[in-house]
Amino acid sequence: MKLATIIGARPQFIKAATVSRILKDNPQINEVIIHTGQHYDANMSEVFFKQLHIPEPDYNLEVGSAPHGKQTGRMLERIEEVLIKEKPDWLLTYGDTNSTVAGALAAVKLHIPAAHVEAGLRSFNRTMPEEINRVATDHISDLLLAPTQNAIELLAKEGLAEKAVFTGDVMYDSILFYSKQLSEKHRPKQINTLDAFYLSTIHRPENTDNPLRLQSIFSAFSEADLPVVLPLHPRTRQLLQGIRFNDNVKIIEPVGYLQMIYLLKHSKKVLTDSGGLQKEAYFMGKPCITLRDQTEWIETLDGNWNFIVAADKDKILKYLHVSEFGPIQKAYGDGHAAEKIISAIQLAQEGK
Ligand code: UD1
Ligand code: UDP
Repeated sequence: MKLATIIGARPQFIKAATVSRILKDNPQINEVIIHTGQHYDANMSEVFFKQLHIPEPDYNLEVGSAPHGKQTGRMLERIEEVLIKEKPDWLLTYGDTNSTVAGALAAVKLHIPAAHVEAGLRSFNRTMPEEINRVATDHISDLLLAPTQNAIELLAKEGLAEKAVFTGDVMYDSILFYSKQLSEKHRPKQINTLDAFYLSTIHRPENTDNPLRLQSIFSAFSEADLPVVLPLHPRTRQLLQGIRFNDNVKIIEPVGYLQMIYLLKHSKKVLTDSGGLQKEAYFMGKPCITLRDQTEWIETLDGNWNFIVAADKDKILKYLHVSEFGPIQKAYGDGHAAEKIISAIQLAQEGK
């Protein structure tokens, strides 16, 4: 069978790396990789293809950055052209970005069945573009590949139980596989000490586009008891003008995945608004402080492993001092989500 995979943004490269590696050895599936071009800087895209040995995309649609409607519209138009030419049996999407919803929509309008990895995640906050993207993608897709039992339950509540399959989380597979490859060469050269530090990432619009929130976060970081290493997303870098902070905040360029999990492994705690990094912190047993108003990854909240603090400076500083943690749950599968994703698609193809 022919499977078209849509990727376009950083976390999708990391998820697809694991699935595509296993697909390469599956003689029954021919994967066609379509990169929308949503992320395009070398350190937001190419580095992942090289480092994680993701096959070169068969297509790069080069949509680039634009407001939501324009960016998603360009993707739809260009994905549709490729799908008409390639005629895949299935289309595979990941996560909740504009690339995800554009891929699923283009496919199902052409009567190509769509499978969605990371189905069933909900923040119940409709002001987040990701929430719109994931709800829409789940409701138009034919196969919903859920990373957790909670996701399965949420899909059932929306009447989608029959399309849902529990697979576990492919990001858990990724971290198990790649953390074995870590060595000193993955220490970002800008970080010349292995002294204790906190690791942070910030890129969500509710923080970057609100100077009061962004300032509150940077003020907390400036007062933290350890340096805060911040590989900064280009979106946030553009919005830093006027934000005050001191040299406790160590801003570096975005790093490759292996550098990122190296930093995670050596960090004391994580401060982030990223979905993926919240989970990775949990997988690696690093306490997390989430700079958002809610999380989709509710399993991480047990045992003090994750605190939701929005951009509240006092809470950020308070939760940095929590030092008692409960056991880590095995809520994200057995590290073989990729195999289960592929089997579920093959089974669905046989039943077509
Ligand atoms: C997107 C996803 C978000 C995901 C994130 C992962 C949507 C709506 N959002 O957010 O869910 O968490 O990716 O990182 O799909 N930019 C560059 N170079 C790049 C890419 C982006 O400079 O290679 C800058 C541009 O100014 C762009 C801005 O970052 O306008 C935002 O990029 P965009 O892809 O629209 O959204 P993200 O914030 O990256
Ligand atoms: N990541 C990375 N380099 C960085 C920042 C993040 O490789 O400089 C990885 C991170 O480890 C995780 C993924 O990117 O695997 C998360 O992506 P991001 O935070 O951009 O998106 P989200 O998960 O919030 O959608």
